[in-house]
Amino acid sequence: MTETITIALSKGRILKETLPLLEEAGIELIDDVDKSRKLVFPTTDPNVRILILRATDVPTYVQYGGADLGVVGKDVLMEHGAEGLYEPLDLNIARCRLMTAGPRGQQPPQGRLRVATKFVDLARRYYAARGRQADIIKLYGAMELAPILGLADEIVDIVDTGNTLKANGLEPRDLIADISTRLVANRASMKTKHRQLQPIIDKMSAAVAQRQAH
Ligand code: ATP
Ligand code: PRP
Repeated sequence: MTETITIALSKGRILKETLPLLEEAGIELIDDVDKSRKLVFPTTDPNVRILILRATDVPTYVQYGGADLGVVGKDVLMEHGAEGLYEPLDLNIARCRLMTAGPRGQQPPQGRLRVATKFVDLARRYYAARGRQADIIKLYGAMELAPILGLADEIVDIVDTGNTLKANGLEPRDLIADISTRLVANRASMKTKHRQLQPIIDKMSAAVAQRQAH
């Protein structure tokens, strides 16, 4: 029996780099994502449909089986947790680092640390593992503002070129993790739909390997 396969993609920065990898796996969107208001997209493979979601919702959809596969940053996965998810492939796109950062030239204060981030659970685990007492302040964006305005001593955020930190008088402190975009799969789907999912994973894996060879 051929079943419908649902793939959840993160909108934003990752999407444009994901679509060519899917195309090499024989899955191409029929609509122009930039022009359509659809949330569920048919593809050139009649058995495969694509959801375009907020990145933070992708692991949730895959965990609960709303999608069989998902494409999302490791940072979002680390924050969400791995329950119900397999992570079969590193797509090696949107590479960046998850770091702590603070005002340039300043040492972090002794005692309790105030940390602003959108990665609340991840940050809590990170400081706890180091025996550092931290009050975590949840923000949804522009983390770099928090130390400038006295909201926090430190931030936990994505760093790529370091330009955003620099432009806001901050500097990187500690590396928490190297980040890239991952393919994730629902654990149950990997068993029940293995015959259909494995070829998609294999073809995407070959496309990633070919890119790395160049
Ligand atoms: P949202 O707008 O939904 O809160 P977001 O702003 O984190 O999400 P994007 O900016 O599209 O989403 O980033 C998506 C993913 O790309 C992140 O989860 C991270 O893995 C990676 N990423 C974020 N910033 C950078 C960057 N400057 N360079 C490279 N990769 C990045
Ligand atoms: C990301 C991240 C940092 C910045 C780091 O923001 O949140 O602010 O990139 O990149 P850099 O080290 O090269 O400066 P993004 O541009 O995605 O904006 P957003 O978080 O507001 O979406």
